[in-house]
Amino acid sequence: MSKRLRKVVFPVAGLGTRFLPATKVVAKEMLPVLDRPLIQYAVDEAVDAGADTLVFVTNRYKHAIADYFDKAYELESKLAQSGKNDLLAMVQGTLPKHVRCVFVTQPEALGLGHAVLCAKPVVGDEPFGVVLPDDLIWNGKGPGALRQMAELADAQHAGVIAVEEVPRDQTNKYGIVDASPVSERAAKVKLVVEKPKPEVAPSNLAIVGRYVLPGRIFELLEKTTPGAGGEIQLTDAIEALLGEQSVLAYRFEGTRFDCGNKLGLVKATLAMALADPALAPATREFIADVR
Ligand code: G1P
Repeated sequence: MSKRLRKVVFPVAGLGTRFLPATKVVAKEMLPVLDRPLIQYAVDEAVDAGADTLVFVTNRYKHAIADYFDKAYELESKLAQSGKNDLLAMVQGTLPKHVRCVFVTQPEALGLGHAVLCAKPVVGDEPFGVVLPDDLIWNGKGPGALRQMAELADAQHAGVIAVEEVPRDQTNKYGIVDASPVSERAAKVKLVVEKPKPEVAPSNLAIVGRYVLPGRIFELLEKTTPGAGGEIQLTDAIEALLGEQSVLAYRFEGTRFDCGNKLGLVKATLAMALADPALAPATREFIADVR
């Protein structure tokens, strides 16, 4: 895979049941970490990796993401008239000018693999990224996880999936990888299995929500039958890909927050507050005092 990573897919059709009742009306990707919604962190990471086409796989109830990245005429003209240029720049800066958004719908919730397959008509036959916005990966001022992966995919002509170690008793929440190390951060994947029980898991190295994949994955997804949880799993199509092409498991530089659950969102919020010079002192004080 030697082409630059141009297209990134965001599967965002999930219901967000872990954040009900808020997600009755707020898409879970719109939940904020400080002042920015989760989807903004995910999009910034994709743009940092070089993407100019963002493909959102959504459902008919989720208009908020499209609205968020759309031009807000009334708000923008009010901010301009009242000379609030900082705020205007912030509102206009959700997406750089050269980046376009494409929305495709996933008619039925048939699994992550099925969601990614819905992006096939837009992506075509070229390497692309997948970012699951629930997994917020923060690398401070350093390169984002997807950029690190895109560079590795390009240099090694391989697919790349992001991994990190998880406690053994949590293997049934993740795709789990068996891989042989090839460098400090990368390992050649030998096997991937979706949500194995701890007693049969090949390791505790878990896939987190970042992938760089070849267009070929779409044909493999078309042949993938329902797997774990009765869903069409991206992990199963990657397992099929292993017979044809090399795939690297990559331990990214940065911290991952699982914002698909409440504790992860709390941790991400605290970490971002501590990284913000205006908020850090008061946040530290609060953490030291809180009972
Ligand atoms: C999905 C993937 C799984 C991966 C996880 C990362 O699972 O199927 O392989 O480990 O994302 O967040 P989900 O969290 O959608 O159940």
